[in-house]
Parts: sequence; structure tokens; C-alpha cells
Amino acid sequence: MIMPPRMRKFALAAHITLAVGWIGAVASYIALDVAAAASQDTQTLRAAYLAMGLIAWYVIVPLALGSLLSGLVMSVGTKWGLFRHYWVLISLLLTIIATVVLLVETQTISYFAEVAADPTTSTEDLRALGSTLVHSVGGTVVLLVILVLNMYKPRGMTRYGWRKQDEQRRASQRSKQDKQRKVSQPLMQRLPLFTGVRGRGILRSVGMQDAA
Ligand code: HEM
Repeated sequence: MIMPPRMRKFALAAHITLAVGWIGAVASYIALDVAAAASQDTQTLRAAYLAMGLIAWYVIVPLALGSLLSGLVMSVGTKWGLFRHYWVLISLLLTIIATVVLLVETQTISYFAEVAADPTTSTEDLRALGSTLVHSVGGTVVLLVILVLNMYKPRGMTRYGWRKQDEQRRASQRSKQDKQRKVSQPLMQRLPLFTGVRGRGILRSVGMQDAA
């Protein structure tokens, strides 16, 4: 079902907010990830791991799920469709992959946060935890690729897309032909009013008695 223009604008605003917000949230996560990887200071390490846990669960995961859902709405609610254009299909696949990797990674992040929250954990143990930089930087690259795809919407239709386009073209040609046929039908056939007794009276009064 195609959304009316106002609803489409609202849905697009929500989609951009969620999706670009996801990229922004990962950027702030990376700052903490770098601090966790580079710092030797116990307080900084503890604070970084705790904040990484909070940002991941309460900001990044909801934004990721929101981007995926709103992306689905934008696809099925517009002419783009979900399986018609390669850019939509690739966006969908990359977003699903990024979300699954994120959900798996949150287990590690939660573990880091738990260890950091324990006051008995030594500085050595905190330093040994390591970072999730490979995933957070890799994830950002994937998100940027999706962003560029969605902005530029490169041409390229799937087989399903071509088939659907053909079907639509044929249906619109058929309805055009039907309309033309109706227009070219004689007046008498289209107006049953003129075939009745009252109709003949009307025609007589306008000088078309013979036609009736
Ligand atoms: C991280 C993930 C995503 C990002 C950063 C993102 C970003 C964007 C942006 C910036 C736009 C606006 C482009 C424009 O019209 O100028 C857009 C539109 C769109 N996105 Fe996404 N998107 C993401 C995920 C998805 C997913 C998963 C889907 C499909 C399942 C999707 C489908 C669409 C569609 C169909 C539009 C066009 C809407 C329209 O023309 O009204 N997006 N996206």
C-alpha cells in the first residue's frame, strides 16, 4: 500500500532520524572504545566499559531495530518496494547483518560492563579485557555504505521488479483501452434514459424524435 504524501514525509523523517542516529550513536561508542583500548587509568577504563554497556543496550540496539523497521515501512509504503530494486535489497541485507552482529556483540559488551562494575576487579584485569574496536569501526563502514546507497538509490532492478513493472504497465494500458472504448460507444447505448418513454419525450422536445 502506497503511503499518502504527508504520511510518507513523516515516515521518512522518522526513518532518517533513527538510521542516521544509529551512526551517531556508534560514533560516540567508538570514542569510549578507543579510550578503553588506549587508557591505562583504572577510573577511565571502568567508566568507559560501563558507559559502553549503557550506550549499546539503551541507544544503539533500539536505533538499529528502529532503522530496520522504519526501512521496511519506507520500502513497502512507497514505489520502491522491498524486492524490486537492488539498492533496497542490499540495504535490507546489510542492515540485518549489522543488527545480528550488534546483538551478538552486546553479549561481550555486557560482560565487559559487568567486570568493570565489580569493585574488586584489578586494573590488570580491566586492561586485559580489550576492546570491540574492530566491530564498531567495521559496523560504521557498513552503515555508511547503506547510507550512501539510500541517498543515491542507484539504478538496477531485480527480476521481480521488472516483472512487476511489466504487470503494472499492462494493467494501465488495459484500463486506458477500456476508457477509450467507453468514450467511443454511441450515446444511445450509454444512456438508457433515452430508450424509455420519458427519454423519448425528452428527445422529442429537443428535436431528436427520430433518433429515439
Ligand atoms: C543503517 C541503515 C539505514 C540508513 C543509514 C538509511 C538511510 C536513509 C536515508 C538517509 C534516506 C533518505 C534518502 C533520500 O530519500 O534522500 C533513506 C531512504 C530510504 N530508505 Fe533507508 N536507511 C537505512 C536502512 C534502510 C533499510 C533496511 C531499508 C529497507 C528495508 C531502507 C529503505 C529505504 C527506502 C525505501 C528509502 C526511500 C524512501 C522514500 O523515497 O520515500 N533503509 N534511508
